[in-house]
Parts: sequence; C-alpha cells; structure tokens
Amino acid sequence: MPAHVLILGGTTEARRLAAGLAARPGVRVTTSLAGRVTRPGAVAGEVRIGGFGGAQGLADWLRTHHVDALVDATHPFAEAITANAARAAAATEIPWVVLRRPGWRPGPGDRWYDVPSLAGAAEALPGLGRRVFLSTGRLGLAAFAHLTELHFVVRSVDPPEPPLPPDTELVLARGPFTVADETELLRTHRVEVLVTKDSGGEATAAKLTAARELALPVVVVRRPPLPRGVAVVSDVAGVREWLGLSPL
Ligand SMILES: NC(=O)c1ccc[n+]([C@@H]2O[C@H](COP(=O)([O-])OP(=O)(O)OC[C@H]3O[C@@H](n4cnc5c(N)ncnc54)[C@H](OP(=O)(O)O)[C@@H]3O)[C@@H](O)[C@H]2O)c1
Repeated sequence: MPAHVLILGGTTEARRLAAGLAARPGVRVTTSLAGRVTRPGAVAGEVRIGGFGGAQGLADWLRTHHVDALVDATHPFAEAITANAARAAAATEIPWVVLRRPGWRPGPGDRWYDVPSLAGAAEALPGLGRRVFLSTGRLGLAAFAHLTELHFVVRSVDPPEPPLPPDTELVLARGPFTVADETELLRTHRVEVLVTKDSGGEATAAKLTAARELALPVVVVRRPPLPRGVAVVSDVAGVREWLGLSPL
C-alpha cells in the first residue's frame, strides 16, 4: 500500500479521492492546488498551493516529500500540469495515473458543433448566433476579444482578466447549477448559442440539458490529448483499484 499519495487537484473527483484516502490509516495524502481560485473548497488531508516550477520542480517535490504514487486528477483542459506530471513521473520513476472523467456525448435533440480549441469556437460563433453564453471559465477569453459584433455572457467563479470581447456581461457564480437555474439564465439573457469545454461530469452538465430544451446550438471545445502511454481511469473507484486499495 502506498504511504504517500500526491493528488494534483482542482476538481470534484480530486476532492472526493482525497476524502477517501485521508480516512484510511497508513495513507498520507497531499492535494496540490494551482491557487487560481480565491476561496477553494475544503479538502481532506494535507494541501499545498501554487505551481511547482515546471516538471523539474514537480520531480524535486516528489523526491523531497517521499511520494510513492502520483494521481493526476486535474481538469481535462489543464494540459500543462499533466505534461509536467508525465515528465516528472518518468524522471523519478514514481507510478502515476490520470483520473479523467468521461467526456460528454450528444443525445437526441442536441445541436452540437465540435471544435478543437477556443479559437475554433470563436471561428464557429458568428454563423450560429449573436448572443453567446460563454461558460468556458475565466481563462482564454482573449480568443473571443475580436468578436465586436457579438454580445457575450461570461460566467466564471472569479472575474476574468482582459482582453475580453467589448460587449461582455459578467455572471460571477460557482456551480453546481440545476437545469432550472441554467434555463433561467439562458432565457433571461436571451442567449442564442452556448460555448462549453468538454469538461464531462454531472456538476456542469445542466446547461447542456437546458440548451437542448430551448433548442439552442452548443459549441463544444473538445479535450486536448493525454500524454502517450499513461494509465487512465475514469473515476475515483478506478484510482483506488490502481492504488491496490479495497473499495469503500
Ligand atoms: N483548465 C480548466 O478549464 C480548469 C477548469 C476547472 C479547474 N481547473 C483546475 O485549475 C488548475 C489550473 O488549471 P490550468 O488549466 O490553469 O492548468 P495548466 O494550464 O495545466 O497549468 C499551468 C501551470 O499551473 C500550475 N498548476 C496547474 N495545476 C496545478 C496543481 N493542481 N497544483 C500545482 N500547480 C498547478 C503548474 O505550474 P508549474 O509549472 O509552476 O508547476 C502548471 O504548469 C488545475 O489544478 C485544474 O485542475 C482547470
């Protein structure tokens, strides 16, 4: 059984995993957060906050803190930290696994447009609607800044930094949101098209149901690829199994 597990966190799954491991005698669990959110939710076990200083910094941290297993439970779009984890795990020969919740798939009645990036979403938007609900988070909004003809409703936990599209309305809120919440938001702001990352999971899926019910098109930014050859599990139970721990 591994003695010290480092979880690269910032997701609901990371928090759930930490809670399960911290309750287990003989396991030391540390969750690492990037420090992007001003008031992160409570996390069980030890917590460290802030970047490591690249792959080398992470490798040093793993060695210095005698980490036995590394779990990358970061968001599917947190590409840089996952690349660093791959390099640090290779350098230290510490076993690592990626926890990635499954992506979203369209159902009957959905009008989804897949794009490979935020820039791709910006390209697709003008043909789809003038009033846009942008629920891609507060980072990367510069990709939409040149779209002067469109009205954007941007929702994020903390305020985004410029550059933003000139006609932007901010909605500061933290999920999860219900289908009723999302329907009201889409109606109130007379949204014509929604943009989302393919985050997957239940916590932020209500907006997709609301869009379907209102027959709105959805631009879905698909995920960046994972490093080649990495072990991937889709849920917390999969990590527990990978760690050789019995289910709860
Ligand atoms: N991207 C999203 O859409 C999204 C959505 C929800 C939550 N999150 C969470 O927010 C955090 C940052 O996301 P991002 O997309 O900005 O990441 P990113 O682009 O992959 O990472 C940029 C840098 O931030 C630091 N970093 C990222 N995650 C870290 C962690 N868990 N612990 C310590 N340092 C971390 C690393 O700095 P150093 O190189 O200095 O180590 C990394 O090189 C992640 O933990 C992710 O799980 C992201």
